[in-house]
Amino acid sequence: MAFERILVTGAGGQIGSEFVPFISEIFGRERIIPSDIKSNQANPRFISLDVTDKSSVDLAIDKYRIDTIFHLAAILSATGEKNPELAYRVNISGMYNILESAIKNKVGLVLTPSSIGVFGPDTPKENVPIETITRPVTMYGVSKLMAEQLGNYYHSRFGLNARGLRFPGLISYKTPPGGGTTDYSVEMIIEAVKGRNYKCFLKEDSKLPMMYMPDALDSLLRLAEAEDSRLKHRTDFNITSFSITPKQLELELRNYFPSFGVTYEPDFRQAIADSWPGSIDASAAKQEWDFHPNYGLKETAEDMILNLRKNIPSNIIKRS
Ligand SMILES: NC(=O)c1ccc[n+]([C@@H]2O[C@H](COP(=O)([O-])OP(=O)(O)OC[C@H]3O[C@@H](n4cnc5c(N)ncnc54)[C@H](O)[C@@H]3O)[C@@H](O)[C@H]2O)c1
Repeated sequence: MAFERILVTGAGGQIGSEFVPFISEIFGRERIIPSDIKSNQANPRFISLDVTDKSSVDLAIDKYRIDTIFHLAAILSATGEKNPELAYRVNISGMYNILESAIKNKVGLVLTPSSIGVFGPDTPKENVPIETITRPVTMYGVSKLMAEQLGNYYHSRFGLNARGLRFPGLISYKTPPGGGTTDYSVEMIIEAVKGRNYKCFLKEDSKLPMMYMPDALDSLLRLAEAEDSRLKHRTDFNITSFSITPKQLELELRNYFPSFGVTYEPDFRQAIADSWPGSIDASAAKQEWDFHPNYGLKETAEDMILNLRKNIPSNIIKRS
């Protein structure tokens, strides 16, 4: 059984803060238990939950009789390189705690996003399939790869319905990105809308796969609801909408803001970007659960600008 009592971990993050309202519309607010290590006074249903604390995880899953978990709590790539120990604890021990508790409490589904961070410099650069060389050089990548493998292990060993997909960089305007290497895309669009130039922390030709948030939310739900019998993969589906360089985004934005300019001053995040592929192959997700992105670069830029012109959320200004 699934979708009667749904726990979302990391619900205060870039994805979670949009995913919770999205699934609340579909399943009803009363079925969703949003949680995060950060508190959220604005939402009385929000619970405080540190996924590295095993007994608290057990307690929450038992207390709320959880049957479905969207495990979004994580430390992202750039933050993880600044604090690898924290990334290890949250991304690996946190995943272990969720899986263990899911088995103990007979949870019907655990869905955990992975990332293109699982790839490394030895991975081919273009149209990368799911099964390829995965030797990440960041703690984030190492931990996300381990989380994928843990999910597979708990499925084959204990029959847990563990699922996951590898997100590319995500573009959204409601909540600031959480310290990833593709955050430049959101920052660049915001600066353009504010009428300011942007200093980009990646080189102009760093091509990376990307996706607009509505497609990311739709993908999480499609994979969660997919027929089990159709799945040949479980925790490591590649998904992507379009691949761009910072220069391509700059040029797209100049269609709307002709005087907009970007300077390129790569920092430590360039090495992370260099270790990732420029494009990935999402055909398994299309075949096995009808992955179907709707937004390309043009549609993403158009929608971001339309919404940011109406309102630039104050939390996003602070971080950009
Ligand atoms: N945003 C992206 O571009 C992107 C790309 C690829 C994969 N992903 C994956 O998607 C998932 C969600 O990412 P996001 O972008 O929303 O990240 P985010 O950093 O915006 O949010 C993560 C949330 O986890 C919370 N958290 C951190 N430590 C915690 C702990 N110990 N216990 C409970 N909560 C804790 C944080 O407070 C934060 O609200 C992650 O698994 C991430 O690896 C994201």
